[in-house]
Amino acid sequence: MKPELPRPHSIVVGGTRGSGRALVRLLHGQGHAVSVVGLRSAPPERGLPNTRFVKADLADARRLPALCRSLVAWGGPLDSLFFFQRYRGGKDSWKGELDVSLTATKTMIEALSGSFLEGGARSVVAIGSVGGHLIAGEQPVGYHVGKAGLIQLVRFYAAALGPKGIRVNLVSPGTVVKEESRAFYAGSRKLQALYKRLIPLGRMGRAEEVAQAAEFLRGPKASFITGQNIVVDGGLSLLWQESLARKLTHS
Ligand SMILES: NC(=O)c1ccc[n+]([C@@H]2O[C@H](COP(=O)([O-])OP(=O)(O)OC[C@H]3O[C@@H](n4cnc5c(N)ncnc54)[C@H](OP(=O)(O)O)[C@@H]3O)[C@@H](O)[C@H]2O)c1
Repeated sequence: MKPELPRPHSIVVGGTRGSGRALVRLLHGQGHAVSVVGLRSAPPERGLPNTRFVKADLADARRLPALCRSLVAWGGPLDSLFFFQRYRGGKDSWKGELDVSLTATKTMIEALSGSFLEGGARSVVAIGSVGGHLIAGEQPVGYHVGKAGLIQLVRFYAAALGPKGIRVNLVSPGTVVKEESRAFYAGSRKLQALYKRLIPLGRMGRAEEVAQAAEFLRGPKASFITGQNIVVDGGLSLLWQESLARKLTHS
């Protein structure tokens, strides 16, 4: 069913879990019509009015222009476009990470850059990671290269699309607690105590805080900000690794 107009129409790619899902709730609460793209799951929010869940495999770039046309046909010209996806496949992680992080983001930005509403937010926000500039031992090389590539992809499109009034930015989180992992972290006092000591702000971040940063970059208070990367990690990546190691050793 077509949403009632006028509602700002936002697309959240990767909005079925974690921080993307938190953003879908935030935008819905602000009266947006939200198109949500995911690979497998439709979350409980699928029953929300003016919210549409679409299953699509972002790894198949050839299908993305048609996907973009169908999203605009449903919700109308775009207010804002968000990329929260992360490759979770088990096959070729190098190809998977680059296809899903970079090629899909590039293809959809290009397919949708002519579909932003005049007078809307005209904002694109992608989600990177501190793994775009630091090495996280538990993640594969493709993750790091994909996230690093997003930093420059955002800068490129910020320059290319600036003359159309489209702003393009990145949010790079550290590890955050999301609904899906809350029980795991809540069940480990040891991990909580560790993060409290490590992170300057004294706690882990939450998926909702990544969503809020993305929403800030979309909104009017960020109207002259483009091509930027905001790190959302409570200050952890400011610290020199050697100092951290010493701190833990002298406990
Ligand atoms: N969680 C963290 O601590 C953390 C830390 C640093 C950076 N980040 C970044 O933050 C973003 C969100 O992460 P998250 O952990 O909150 O979410 P997540 O659980 O990794 O969810 C990923 C989303 O991407 C979708 N997706 C994955 N592969 C896809 C494909 N081939 N085609 C279409 N959709 C696909 C998933 O759809 P389905 O649910 O349908 O599979 C889901 O909606 C990611 O970019 C991640 O790298 C997260």
